Amino acid sequence: MSATETLVQRAQKVLTPNYRQAPVVLVRGEGCRVWDAEGREYLDCIAGIATVSLGHCHPVVVRALEEQAHQLWHVSNLFYNPRAIELAEALVATARFASRVFLCNSGAEANEAMLKLARKFHSDAGHPERHEIVACTNSFHGRTMFALAATGQPKYHRGFEPLVPGVRHIPFGDLPALERALGPATAAFIVEPIQGEAGVMPPPAGYLAGARELTRKAGALLCLDEVQTGMGRTGRMWAHEGEGVAPDLMSSAKALANGYPMGALLASEEVGSHLTPGSHASTFGGNALGAAVALAALREIQRILPEVEKVSARLRARIRELASGRVTEVRGRGFLLGAVVAGVDAADVVKAARERGLLVNAIGSGVVRVAPPLTLTLAEADLCAERLAAALAAAPAKAA
Ligand SMILES: Cc1ncc(COP(=O)(O)O)c(C=O)c1O
Repeated sequence: MSATETLVQRAQKVLTPNYRQAPVVLVRGEGCRVWDAEGREYLDCIAGIATVSLGHCHPVVVRALEEQAHQLWHVSNLFYNPRAIELAEALVATARFASRVFLCNSGAEANEAMLKLARKFHSDAGHPERHEIVACTNSFHGRTMFALAATGQPKYHRGFEPLVPGVRHIPFGDLPALERALGPATAAFIVEPIQGEAGVMPPPAGYLAGARELTRKAGALLCLDEVQTGMGRTGRMWAHEGEGVAPDLMSSAKALANGYPMGALLASEEVGSHLTPGSHASTFGGNALGAAVALAALREIQRILPEVEKVSARLRARIRELASGRVTEVRGRGFLLGAVVAGVDAADVVKAARERGLLVNAIGSGVVRVAPPLTLTLAEADLCAERLAAALAAAPAKAA
C-alpha cells in the first residue's frame, strides 16, 4: 500500500465522516505549490478555500509566528496583549465605518457574534421586538446554529432543526424583495458582497448601495459577511469598497491569518459599543499567536494588493481563451473566480485537474472555483489556465 492509501485508510477509521475528501494527503507547501505524500507537486489554485492568500509558508508570516511563539501565546481575555490591540487598530484602519473589533477563531464564530450583536443592539435600545434577521437564499454563513439558520441552503439545515427562530430568506440581488421583507421587527439584513458557496455569484450593480439605503430607512442594521470576499480576495481589501457603502457590521475570517484559525467582527462605534462586558466572549479570541500572524498577513496583503488585478485579468482571459466552449462564463472578481462549465460535471473537471497537477474545487455540478493565493504570478496564471483547459477537455461529456 502507498503512503497515501495507508493514511487515507487510517483517516477513514478515526475522523468523523463529514467531509468528502479527495484521496490526496498533502504534506508540504511553498508559495502557490503543495506536495502530496507521494512527492507529487500541485499548483494550488484553491488555497485552502480562499484562505492561504499569501501562499504556503510565506516567509513574512512564518517569521511573525516564530517570533511570537518565543514571546507569548495565550493569556485569555482576562488581560490585554499587545498583538490583539495592534491587529484591531490595523483592521479598523482598513474600513472607514469600523472603530471596534471582536476577535475570534472562524467565520461562523464571527457571524454568530454579528447576528447576536444585531439583536442586542436593538434590545438595548428598548426594542427587543426587533429580532428578525433577513438573509438570502443560497447564502452561506457557517455551521454554528445562528449562522446556520441564516445560511439559505436547506440541505445544510436537515437534521439540525429546530433552527434559531426569527430568520427569513429572500432572493439574493432582489431589492424589491428586501424592501418587502424589512419591517418594524427586523434587526438586520446579512449578505455576502459576492455569494461564494452559491457558485461565486456577484449581485447586480448597485445592490449593496440599495440594501444600505433600504436598511437605513427601515431602522435595520446592514451586516456584510466578508469571510470569503475580504482580505484582498477580490482585488480590494474588502469587496464592498468602492460601492459607496458603509455597513454597520462586517465579519472576516479565512485569509485573515493566512491559514492560522482567526476570525474578526468589525463594528461601527454605535453598534460595537453594545458588546458590553460579559455579553459575549471567546477563550481564544485575540490569542497573541493568531493576532501576530494576522497582523503580518494583513500588512503583507496590503503591500501586494495592487498586483492582483493584473494577474487576475490574465487568468480570466486565458481560461476563456483555452476552455474551448466548455466554460460559458468566468464570474467573480480578483482571485475569487467561478468558471461556469457546460457539458461536463464540475466534479469530473476538478478530478481531472488534480490528475494534471492543479487544485481547484467544484461548487455543485456547474461551477469550478478558482481561488489561488493572491501571490500567483503571471506564469502560474498561465499554467493554471493550461491545466484547467486540459482537464476540461479530458472530463467525460455529461449525458444529455
Ligand atoms: C461567506 C462565508 N461565511 C462564513 C463561512 C464560515 O466560515 P468558517 O468555515 O470559518 O466557519 C464561510 C466558509 O466558507 C463563508 O464562505
